[in-house]
Amino acid sequence: LRTAVIIVAAGSGERLGQGIPKAQVILGSEPMLNHALRGVLATEVAEQICVVLPRGDTELRAQLAGFDAGTGVRITAVDGGSTRADSVRNALEVLAGIDVVLVHDAARALAPVEVFHRVLNALESGAKAVIPVIPVVDTIKVAVHSEEPGIAPEQVRSTPAREQLRAVQTPQGFELATLLKAHQASAMFTDAQAAAITDDAMLVESQGIPVYLVRGSELSLKITTPHDLLFAEALLEGPAA
Ligand code: C5P
Repeated sequence: LRTAVIIVAAGSGERLGQGIPKAQVILGSEPMLNHALRGVLATEVAEQICVVLPRGDTELRAQLAGFDAGTGVRITAVDGGSTRADSVRNALEVLAGIDVVLVHDAARALAPVEVFHRVLNALESGAKAVIPVIPVVDTIKVAVHSEEPGIAPEQVRSTPAREQLRAVQTPQGFELATLLKAHQASAMFTDAQAAAITDDAMLVESQGIPVYLVRGSELSLKITTPHDLLFAEALLEGPAA
């Protein structure tokens, strides 16, 4: 299957609190985006990689030029949109001659090669949509506004059965035509509906298409907070000697 990878890296990184776009935050000795990109190149599955960067960015664009040389993979950059889904859509517009696309968060900079291969294997077996997941260790509650705000702002509405719950990661894999159609359908969404879209699989699910699950990895954590960054640094260093 002719495969493209979209790396979404247009997030603000506000929750990391460094005042620079998240993909530019240094992990180990390099920007997070470099780790993500190197991870994707190591999979050797992509013939095209489209990186979605913050609008107006010049630093990360300059970094990309270094990667393009010698890899044989076509690496392009597009501007991000105001939501993650808008960012993905901007990248979908520039893909050509592709059968399947893997959408990956730059923030999951340490996602292992094997996860990409598991996703792609399921696509090769005929799935139109595949996502990597891990079991949930915490009990998860659905929260609603509380009846007694004087006590606490929220209360529990329900408790989904934990053994049915999965935490969802990236890369999420799709037949290109399926993902394009799902994104086109979402153009009709209201602002509130659009704001509720947190991954690509949701859009495909809403089209009634089965989304298959493969095993993700603890290493694919989404680096979001300063605590995550510390943890990722420790993972990069590996076990203490
Ligand atoms: O903030 P969020 O959890 O949605 O970010 C997930 C990924 O989507 C990050 O890698 C981030 O860079 C990317 N993103 C984007 N464009 C946006 C928002 C997020 O590319 N407008």
